[in-house]
Amino acid sequence: MENSIPDKKRSSKIKNGADSAQSPATQAHPGKRSAPVNGPNNGGAAIGVADVDKLVADALARIAAAGTPEQLEKTRLNLIGRKGVLPLALRAIKDRSAEDKRRLGPALNQARTTVEAAVRQRALSLSKSVFESLVDDEAIDVTEPLPRTALGHIHPTEHVRREVEDIFRSMGFEVVRGQEIDDEENNFDLLNIPASHPARDLWDTFWLKKPEAFKESSVAATKNRLLLRTHTSNMQVRVMRDRTPPLRIVNIGRVYRYESTDKTHETTFNQIEGFIVDESTTLGDLRGTLHTLFETIFGQKLVTRLRPSYFPFTEPSVELDMSCTFCKGKGCAVCKNTGWLEIGGAGMIHPNVLKNGGLNPNKFQGFAFGMGLERITMFKYGIDDIRWLLSADLRFLEQF
Ligand code: DAH
Repeated sequence: MENSIPDKKRSSKIKNGADSAQSPATQAHPGKRSAPVNGPNNGGAAIGVADVDKLVADALARIAAAGTPEQLEKTRLNLIGRKGVLPLALRAIKDRSAEDKRRLGPALNQARTTVEAAVRQRALSLSKSVFESLVDDEAIDVTEPLPRTALGHIHPTEHVRREVEDIFRSMGFEVVRGQEIDDEENNFDLLNIPASHPARDLWDTFWLKKPEAFKESSVAATKNRLLLRTHTSNMQVRVMRDRTPPLRIVNIGRVYRYESTDKTHETTFNQIEGFIVDESTTLGDLRGTLHTLFETIFGQKLVTRLRPSYFPFTEPSVELDMSCTFCKGKGCAVCKNTGWLEIGGAGMIHPNVLKNGGLNPNKFQGFAFGMGLERITMFKYGIDDIRWLLSADLRFLEQF
């Protein structure tokens, strides 16, 4: 049986208690006031009320003298523990006369209450002082300056990207994101660059093999090849098809070109693409928009100019320049003594592109522009080689 052992224990305790209650020593002098002291446990048996007062005074002194919670616990056990002085004295009075019981019982009970209260009080103040010494010993000075830890920070290109996005948002543009793996159709065909057109040669393209998983799908069946997008113009037609004008869109992201790298060319870089479609947009709006962008980014007065150019998806097409931010147009090494920095391509969206986007070119028109985010970052921070920006070289990055 599960509880047979505890039962046995309990019954043997009771038996022991009964035995001692009827021990010959106490039986020999029942009810006698001056019963002799029989063994240490009966130390309180013969005490009077005056002794109780002394006992309490002594107990209180000992409690007050306990300097640690451990010492106090020892004192507590000694005074009011099961075999402590007071419980034993209380137990012992059962052998005393009725008169003694009447006087001593309440006195001892009162003594016990007093001692218990004093122990509680002392325990509280000891734990307080333990706490106070902990506060002193282990206090942390939150104002103490710590050794400097190296904190990372935002990459300069990313910093400029956020800035550019904020400026466009402030002009009412919506920021969209596009996919970096795209199809031939959105990257080229729908932007008025058919496969046979020589303009395709303007973009050195990374073509992708169709993944095995696509073999059975309609993607594999079409001639629409996959590629790493060569420009962020790949979102133009998608956005036109998805939404109704007026449109004010900016799309900044990574693009890829299959070409050799040098100080101003990378295979992987970021482009800022933006466009507006509305019923009365002009090249003047384009120039004003980009002028505001550049003066805000570079924090200085600038001159911008448009030069005729060619892109398949704009008509007319322009090249956008700004006065050199380093020499203020006087001519220096950065602007190759021209006083101008080429900053991007732009134009009015070609009617074919609007048509591909499901828009009537007789009703709507708009401008579009594209430029390199790294190029702007380089001009802003005076960086002389685009390859630093992808180098992850801390000697470079820690300068920002
Ligand atoms: N997509 C062009 C490129 O990668 C840049 C560009 C030029 C974008 C003119 C435009 C634009 O939207 O109108 O070279």
